[in-house]
Amino acid sequence: MFFMFDTLEGYIQPGTEEEALVKQIDFSKLPVHLAIIMDGNGRWARKRNLPRTEGHKAGTESVKEVIEASARLGLKYLTLYAFSRENWKRPKEEVNTLWNLLKEYLGRDSKILIDNNLKLKVIGEKKGIPYFVRRELNRVERLTRNNERMTVILALNYGGRQEIIETVKKLLKRKFSPEEINEEIFSRYLDTAGLPDPDLLIRTSGEMRLSNFLLWQCAYTELWITPTLWPDFRKKELFQAIIEYQKRERRFGGLDTQA
Ligand code: IPE
Ligand code: IPE
Ligand code: MG
Repeated sequence: MFFMFDTLEGYIQPGTEEEALVKQIDFSKLPVHLAIIMDGNGRWARKRNLPRTEGHKAGTESVKEVIEASARLGLKYLTLYAFSRENWKRPKEEVNTLWNLLKEYLGRDSKILIDNNLKLKVIGEKKGIPYFVRRELNRVERLTRNNERMTVILALNYGGRQEIIETVKKLLKRKFSPEEINEEIFSRYLDTAGLPDPDLLIRTSGEMRLSNFLLWQCAYTELWITPTLWPDFRKKELFQAIIEYQKRERRFGGLDTQA
């Protein structure tokens, strides 16, 4: 079943908790870029005496729901941390399952991205991604290249430190002089070139760390951490995170506007 994510109408049932939350959202102050560290799949499975891989499978439902809800809300960029540079340390079977699930998702659900005017972009070291997945990623990136409703950025084989090192290497190869280098130039050579920094970062499963995610880009990002495990994460919590974000005062090192 394919649907157009036009508005929230018909998506939120009247009289539900979700509806009450949506009413609290100020649509003129939405985060432009939401980033999510999708964590807790293994613990979700363990709680049910299932293999960790079942947690990853269940997590794909949350991915689909969050993409749809974000697009319907009107967010412009959604970055999902799906595989870190360090995740290769996991048992081979688990690593294979993760890449297989992504390949299946791209084969089965890329039509949802295409039909809903969503653009796919990958950040991370692409050449280290298994070829059977990379090929699909390239296909979907190509097909959605001109879409503009919302960009879904998948962080795959991604590491913030490695990204920074790669950027330094690019600048050296292009023979930039020390005087020419500044934040703006540096940002242009990151994987995230052209994307605004995340306004809000959600991490599920209660861990209070960045785990090498968007280290440069999250300098002034608002953090929201929930104990909910990723496979249990639903739109209701996305709405709660946004409401919470809208209550924050972002000072960027300056002074409180009321001061
Ligand atoms: C997040 O869940 C998925 C990836 C890191 C790919 P985890 O697999 O890290 O789950 P926990 O943290 O072990 O519960
Ligand atoms: C971060 O989660 C990576 C992704 C969600 C893809 P991890 O589960 O790998 O992080 P740590 O090991 O708990 O820091
Ligand atoms: Mg984890």
